[in-house]
Amino acid sequence: MELGIRDRVVLVTGAGRGIGRQICQTLAEEGVRVAVNDLFQERADESAGEISRSGGKAIGVSADVTDLEAVNGMVRRVVEEFGSLDILVNNAGIPAVTTQDAVPATGGFFSGSGPEQWERTMGLITHGVLNCSRAVIEGMSERSWGRIISIISDAGRVGEPRLVAYSMAKAGVVGFSKALAKEIGRACVTVNCVSPATTETEATAAWIAAQGDQIMRQYPLAKGLNRLGKPSDIANAVAFLASERAEWITGQVLSVNGGYSMAD
Ligand SMILES: NC(=O)c1ccc[n+]([C@@H]2O[C@H](COP(=O)([O-])OP(=O)(O)OC[C@H]3O[C@@H](n4cnc5c(N)ncnc54)[C@H](O)[C@@H]3O)[C@@H](O)[C@H]2O)c1
Repeated sequence: MELGIRDRVVLVTGAGRGIGRQICQTLAEEGVRVAVNDLFQERADESAGEISRSGGKAIGVSADVTDLEAVNGMVRRVVEEFGSLDILVNNAGIPAVTTQDAVPATGGFFSGSGPEQWERTMGLITHGVLNCSRAVIEGMSERSWGRIISIISDAGRVGEPRLVAYSMAKAGVVGFSKALAKEIGRACVTVNCVSPATTETEATAAWIAAQGDQIMRQYPLAKGLNRLGKPSDIANAVAFLASERAEWITGQVLSVNGGYSMAD
């Protein structure tokens, strides 16, 4: 199926590794020009370099998505480089470990958590999505074409113990997306969410290894396919929602999770 998005421009946040990196690669294979964001310039450059070496068009743009001024600067840079910004993928959602004494970003019982952890988690997820969406929305409206896709988590759909603030913030992104979808639909901008369950990335490798074989039982498709979720599963769903073929789909949440949860 031809996706009809050749030469469109995407900005993917938190895309120096993991799911975001794969989203960049998959969209580049469809001929989309890619701006790779990450908190760390070297990660963004590495991811962009990989695309350029395989014949795609990509630039690395570092910025902290929780900083609106930095985000506005990043969006200006992307538009200067590529002439527009058509697709935003809000993917950054797991706080990076930047100092040795950083409080664990997400995991742990709620009873042992406190404001520092909540702010890091909720700040990144909610303000990251607000800032990046705010920075692109006027350009998309003016061009009467746009896609905003946020990577949430099944934790936000059905709740996940030891990820209470994270679940709350991801659920908030669903409300944001539905409200904005109604507000901006008349400008032909769609707003949707893709919701992974456990997906094998650098962020989850140690946790998955610690679970042993038991984890496979939670995913109806896992035994048959002999695997857990991969970044490409998420990237393929994003590519479809970003495509011309999905112009009639907005305000929706698509779980890509091997059957882990089957939320309405
Ligand atoms: N991996 C999973 O099992 C899983 C499951 C459900 C949902 N998700 C969601 O998928 C998304 C990607 O997850 P992942 O496993 O690939 O994460 P990851 O930690 O491997 O990669 C995320 C990237 O985001 C960057 N980042 C962190 N804070 C940032 C900031 N303030 N500004 C810009 N970049 C920042 C990090 O440097 C990192 O390179 C997240 O939103 C996460 O919540 C992941």
